[in-house]
Amino acid sequence: MRVLVIGSGGREHALVLALARDLAVDEVHAAPGNPGMAAAARLHPVDPLDGGRVAELATSLPVDLVVIGPEAPLVAGVADAVRAAGVACFGPSAEAARLEGSKAFAKEVMAAAGVPTAMAHICAGIPAVEAALDAFGPPYVVKDDGLAAGKGVVVTDDRESALAHARTCLGGPAADAGGRTVVVEEFLDGPEVSVFGVTDGRTVVPLMPAQDFKRLGDGDTGPNTGGMGAYAPLSWVPDGLVAEVTDRVLRPTVSEMARRGTPFAGLLYAGLALSTRGMRVVEFNARFGDPETQVVLPLLESSLGTLLYAAATGRLDDLPALRWRREAAVTVVVASPGYPESARTGDPVTGLDRAAGCDGVHLVHAGTAVHDGELVTAGGRVLAVTAVGADVGEARARAYVGVGQVRLDGAQYRSDIAAGR
Ligand code: AMP
Ligand code: GLY
Repeated sequence: MRVLVIGSGGREHALVLALARDLAVDEVHAAPGNPGMAAAARLHPVDPLDGGRVAELATSLPVDLVVIGPEAPLVAGVADAVRAAGVACFGPSAEAARLEGSKAFAKEVMAAAGVPTAMAHICAGIPAVEAALDAFGPPYVVKDDGLAAGKGVVVTDDRESALAHARTCLGGPAADAGGRTVVVEEFLDGPEVSVFGVTDGRTVVPLMPAQDFKRLGDGDTGPNTGGMGAYAPLSWVPDGLVAEVTDRVLRPTVSEMARRGTPFAGLLYAGLALSTRGMRVVEFNARFGDPETQVVLPLLESSLGTLLYAAATGRLDDLPALRWRREAAVTVVVASPGYPESARTGDPVTGLDRAAGCDGVHLVHAGTAVHDGELVTAGGRVLAVTAVGADVGEARARAYVGVGQVRLDGAQYRSDIAAGR
């Protein structure tokens, strides 16, 4: 099988690595890819948002399967363009990707499917926001309705900060005139878990749950980010969690999308809060999570290519049960100074060979570029140091030995990823 991965971040690098070691996969291509992928995939300088160009690349190579990593190309209809060109594609249609692209739409689908989630008000102006904040009380949760790379959510006890975020989302002083919407939600307590469901639009195959660390600072302090680290497996989740999520969240959502005539085929990511009042969906994403993918895929023993191809061609019910390694994985994200508000880029980053040489460690590039033969930062999250070990403790110790080898001025990383798990 020949596979083309679309995207250039850490998630896509993790996909490329898992496909490259998959015996069912003969060739891996990536567009546009990143410098870290070059050893495992052939890179093609194609704009991931240009469906026509992506479809042309897929048919000219040719490949058997296109895997779309990030949400933006999905929402832009790149999967539709690839399928229209007759190539199997892992990734939902633009219409189905609205599950991630619009939080208001996701709420509507969850209500229709009976999926447990936080109560929410979809507000079109500041007066409605104020009423919703007062109805729920603190802590306040205010979300941008559209795509915001995990940074569009503010959770705060301060009513003024909640209102300020709502004004930003609604578009400034003209907010009261309406137009855009903002979502105000009930606060969910309890730990968060990410569960990925691979689906062909009918059958759902759940992957191993993982936990992401979303806040920038140790002890879950500071702003929300795209994710600062992750680990799997989660020894503390209740037995039967995966079955419960599949039965109460993933399958009902997939059925509801099919019933609407906009089947969801691809990766349905359920971000869940295990709250004191039961499991609730915090968010849906229409693609693999980043950095959870960096820890889930290294533990997958079955063929990733076969799984994604079966999902892309409506054949998941024929697939044998997935096999997992009895090990653990931990990934620690190294970010640029200034991330997430305004990341500084263009700084040299070194020590990667030494880091990758540490026991059980491999590196995943997320925001790097090569300038004049030198590796430099090109994004907020620069790379993820991932380690596999016999258990979470060993994987975590190994990952931090790797992190200690990376040299980047002003680097930010959390020192408590998977601590005590
Ligand atoms: P989202 O973009 O919806 O994934 O939200 C990003 C992060 O904000 C989540 O992972 C949570 O940590 C936090 N968050 C979102 N919604 C809620 C909620 N209703 N209650 C508590 N925390 C939330
Ligand atoms: N790790 C959170 C996300 O991918 O949205």
